[in-house]
Amino acid sequence: MSGDREAALRGRTILVGVCGGIAAYKCAGVVSALRQAEADVHVIMTEAAQRFVTPLTFEALSGNPVHTDMFAAASTWNIAHIGLVRKAELMVVLNATATTLAKLAHGMADNLLTACVLASRVPVLVAPAMNTQMWQAAPTQANIRMLQERGVHFVEPGAGFLACGEVGEGRLADEDDILAAIGHLLTRARRMSGQRVLVTAGPTREYLDPARFLSNPATGRMGIALAQEAAARGASVTLVCGPTELAVPPSVACVRVTTAREMHAAVMEHLPGCTLFIGAAAVADFRPVRRSDTKVKKSAAARTIELEPNPDIIAEVSLHRPAGCFVVGFAAESGDLEAHAREKLAAKNLDCIVANRIEPEGGAFGSRDNAVVILWGREGREEVARAPKARVAAAILDRIARLRGSA
Ligand SMILES: Cc1cc2nc3c(=O)[nH]c(=O)nc-3n(C[C@H](O)[C@H](O)[C@H](O)COP(=O)(O)O)c2cc1C
Repeated sequence: MSGDREAALRGRTILVGVCGGIAAYKCAGVVSALRQAEADVHVIMTEAAQRFVTPLTFEALSGNPVHTDMFAAASTWNIAHIGLVRKAELMVVLNATATTLAKLAHGMADNLLTACVLASRVPVLVAPAMNTQMWQAAPTQANIRMLQERGVHFVEPGAGFLACGEVGEGRLADEDDILAAIGHLLTRARRMSGQRVLVTAGPTREYLDPARFLSNPATGRMGIALAQEAAARGASVTLVCGPTELAVPPSVACVRVTTAREMHAAVMEHLPGCTLFIGAAAVADFRPVRRSDTKVKKSAAARTIELEPNPDIIAEVSLHRPAGCFVVGFAAESGDLEAHAREKLAAKNLDCIVANRIEPEGGAFGSRDNAVVILWGREGREEVARAPKARVAAAILDRIARLRGSA
C-alpha cells in the first residue's frame, strides 16, 4: 500500500458492512488491509453475509467484535447502532447486494447494516457485486442513481468471470480500487476543515398577493449538492435556501427563506467569517412594487404588474466580502452562455462563475443532472460533463480548491 494511502487510513474509524453475496470472502481481504494500515475497523454483517463467511473471520481480521443482530440486548444495540455510527468517519458497504442497494435507496432500516447507514451522517461508500443481469436490471440502476444523487459514493464493479459461470459486469471491484476509494474519501473529509462556507440555493418567491407570486423552476438541488459536498470535505456549512421540497442533509445548517430580500438579509447576516461564498440560488431580479395583503379579485386584478429591482446579492457579497473570502457566482443563461457569464464574472468582480443552460435540452433548472462550464480570470475555463449534481458539485469544489492553491 502506498505511503499516502496508509497515512490517510491510520487511526481513522471505519464502519464496514458486509452483505450476503458470493464475494463476501473477498471483503475479508479489504478488512485485513485496513487493519494493517492501522485503521480502527468495525464490521457489521447481514444475516445473509453470515451464510457465506463467519463473523469469526472478520472479528479476527478487524480485532473488534462483529455486529450482526439488531435485536441484540439494548445495551449492545446502543453501542453498535448509536455508538459506532457516531464514532465512524466513513461507512463502507462491501459486496453490496441488489437487495441491500434497494433497501438503502428506499431508506429501509430492517437490519443493523441498513439502520446504521440510514442513521449515519458521514460519507457512505458502496462497492456492489452481483450477477450481470441483476446489475444491469432497471431497478438496480435506478436505485444506484437515487443513491448517487444523495451523495453516496460507489466503487463500480468490474467485468470478468462471475460465480454464476457467466462473464460480464458485476464482479466486486478489485481490493486496490476499494482501498483507493476509501483513502480518497478519508482524505477528502479533512480537505476543507477549518473553512466556513455559505451557499445559497433554490428559487425565491415574489408575492403579488397571498395566492400569487413570481418565481422560477429552480429546485435548489445544485446548491444543496454543493453544501453537502463541502460539509463532507470537513467545512462548516450554512445554506440559505429558498422554497424547495428537497431535504437538506443534517450536516448542513439551513436557513429557510422565501423572498429575495429575505435571502439577502440572511446572507449578509451569515457572511462575516466566511472563507467561501457560493451563490447558486436563482434569485428573482425583480419583485412587484405592490403586494396586496388579501387575494386580489379576478375582476380587480391589474393587467400590468409594476416591478422594482431586488437586491443583487452576489454583487453585494463580492463588495463586502470578508478578507480572503472566495466568491463564486452562478449564471443560468439561455443565449450566449459563456459571453454572458464572463460579463457577470467581470462586472461583479467574482473569483469564478459556474455557467449552466436553462434550455430544456441540457437544462439546469429542476433537473437531476447538470452540465456546466466554470469560468475564471480572463480565459480560465473548465467544462464539467453532464453528470448527477453531486458529482458536478465535487468538480466545482475541486476547481475552487485548485484556484485557491489548496489542492
Ligand atoms: C450462492 C448465492 C450467491 C449470491 N450472490 C449474490 C450476489 O453476488 N449479489 C447479490 O446481489 N445477491 C446475491 N445472492 C442473493 C442474496 O444473498 C440475497 O438477495 C440476500 O437476501 C441478500 O441479503 P443482504 O443484502 O441483506 O445481505 C446470492 C445468493 C446465493 C444463494
